[in-house]
Amino acid sequence: MKPLTIVVTGATGTQGGAVARLLTGRGHDVRRMTRNPAGPGDVHGDFDEPASLHAAFADADGVFLMTPLSSQDEVARGEAAVDAARHVPHVVFTSATNADRGTGIPHFDTKAEVERHLTARHPHWTILGPAAFMAAEGPVTLPIPPELKLHVVAPEDIAAMAALSFEQPARLHRRRVDLASDLVTGPEMAALRGTEFVQVADDQAERYSPDLAAMFRYFTGTGLDLDLPALHAEFPEVGWHSYAGWLTRVRNERSRPART
Ligand SMILES: NC(=O)c1ccc[n+]([C@@H]2O[C@H](COP(=O)([O-])OP(=O)(O)OC[C@H]3O[C@@H](n4cnc5c(N)ncnc54)[C@H](OP(=O)(O)O)[C@@H]3O)[C@@H](O)[C@H]2O)c1
Repeated sequence: MKPLTIVVTGATGTQGGAVARLLTGRGHDVRRMTRNPAGPGDVHGDFDEPASLHAAFADADGVFLMTPLSSQDEVARGEAAVDAARHVPHVVFTSATNADRGTGIPHFDTKAEVERHLTARHPHWTILGPAAFMAAEGPVTLPIPPELKLHVVAPEDIAAMAALSFEQPARLHRRRVDLASDLVTGPEMAALRGTEFVQVADDQAERYSPDLAAMFRYFTGTGLDLDLPALHAEFPEVGWHSYAGWLTRVRNERSRPART
């Protein structure tokens, strides 16, 4: 296919980084948006400076839009980016699983507002709703019971769905798709990471972050509504990672000598 020009916001971060790498590898012309351009392909853009977004998005075929984690500004930033992408043929917004369900979780509800702005204002959109990102290290200290299976997603799988959205727009045109790669309990995650699972008490989680505590209460009480087998059957080309398979991939990549 003809290479596309895609602006990737959050390109120095987890999701945007994975998207930028994958699209570049597939031969697309990627503009990596960051507040601090440092290399070829980087373009300046700041969600708090709408003029910089207009400049970064000019003449692009698509924008991969993420919003940094700050519920205070998330709506204003997301809406400013949607408005700046008015003339861009396709916007792929990465939100969160079930954010459109009125969960009452602050950083889900702010994403839902951005989703509503996007779907009301832009004719060509795709919304991806990733579950919790897989992580390779660190303690597994969570306010969930040990038997609860958590939906987790590999950043590479989010990237593969974003690439599909841009490359096969008819397939994902005006669709909202929640994403998870695997379902794992806290103790299973900890065992794979070589650490212990620690169940945090609710009040301790609440003191740490009322927003995250609300999210884990939702996961435990209501539970995410996501049909994993149906998702994986519809998009087999993503090559969905199991948590174990993803950890092996990350560890292999890290042990490979860096190219000079
Ligand atoms: N972690 C999870 O499990 C999970 C699951 C579902 C959804 N989410 C959502 O994912 C989002 C975070 O994505 P991420 O983890 O990929 O990001 P991240 O790794 O935390 O990176 C943040 C990115 O945001 C950019 N950024 C920050 N402030 C900016 C500004 N004012 N203007 C332009 N760019 C700015 C940074 O770019 P520069 O610093 O280079 O400018 C960086 O690339 C949050 O909305 C979170 O709620 C997270």
